Amino acid sequence: MIFEERTYDLNGRELLLRAPRDEDAEMLRHYIKKACSETRFLMAEGDEMDLSLEAELEFINSHNESDGGMLILGFLDGEHVGNCSFEKVSGSRRYAHRVNVGIALLQEYTGAGIGKIMFGAMLEEIEKAGFEQAELIVVDKNERAKHMYESFGFRESGRKPNANKYDDNTYSDDVFMVKKFK
Ligand SMILES: CC(C)(COP(=O)(O)OP(=O)(O)OC[C@H]1O[C@@H](n2cnc3c(N)ncnc32)[C@H](O)[C@@H]1OP(=O)(O)O)[C@@H](O)C(=O)NCCC(=O)NCCS
Repeated sequence: MIFEERTYDLNGRELLLRAPRDEDAEMLRHYIKKACSETRFLMAEGDEMDLSLEAELEFINSHNESDGGMLILGFLDGEHVGNCSFEKVSGSRRYAHRVNVGIALLQEYTGAGIGKIMFGAMLEEIEKAGFEQAELIVVDKNERAKHMYESFGFRESGRKPNANKYDDNTYSDDVFMVKKFK
C-alpha cells in the first residue's frame, strides 16, 4: 500500500510524510544501522544491521506493493528523520484482521512531537484499510514509546521476561501491546 504524501507544520518546520522510493534504498540502509546503534529499544545491535541494497529494495517494494502493509518515511525540512510501518500478521484468514506496527526515529529527532504525528497518520491508514487490531512489541524500559502507544489506545496484553539481553549482560522484558479499532 502506498501512503499518499502529506505535510504538517511542526513549529514552523515542514514535516513531510511519504511512501519510500527505490532511490531511498541506500539512505535506508544507513538509517537502520544508525537507529539500531543509538538505542536499546530496537530489535538488534547496529553492527548486526547490514542489509544489502537488494534486501532494502525488496523491503521497500514489499510494502509498496502489498495489500496489507505500508512503509512511511518522515522528512523534517528535507532531512530524513525515521520511518514507521505496518504489516499483516500473516496471510491466513483467521489472522487477517491483525497488523504488526513499528516506528523508529533517529535520536536527534525524538522528543519533538514527530512520533505522534507519524504514528497517528499510520493508525488512520490501518483503520481505513479495515484492519481490526494493531499489535506491537515494546521494550519495557521504553517509557516514551509506551506513553505514546497508550495515548493512542494501545493496552498491554502480556510480556516476555528477559526477552532482550544486551552486550553488558543486562536484560529487559518485552511488553506486548494491542489496540482494537472496534
Ligand atoms: C518512541 C518514539 C517513536 C516516540 O516519538 P517522539 O517523536 O520521540 O515522541 P513525541 O515527541 O511525539 O512524544 C510522545 C509522547 O511521549 C511523551 N514522553 C516523552 N518522553 C517521555 C518519557 N521519558 N517518559 C514518558 N513519556 C515521555 C511526550 O510528552 C509525548 O506525550 P504527550 O503527547 O502526552 O505529551 C521515538 O522516540 C523513537 O523512535 N525512539 C527511538 C526508537 C524507538 O524507541 N522506537 C519504538 C520501538 S517500540
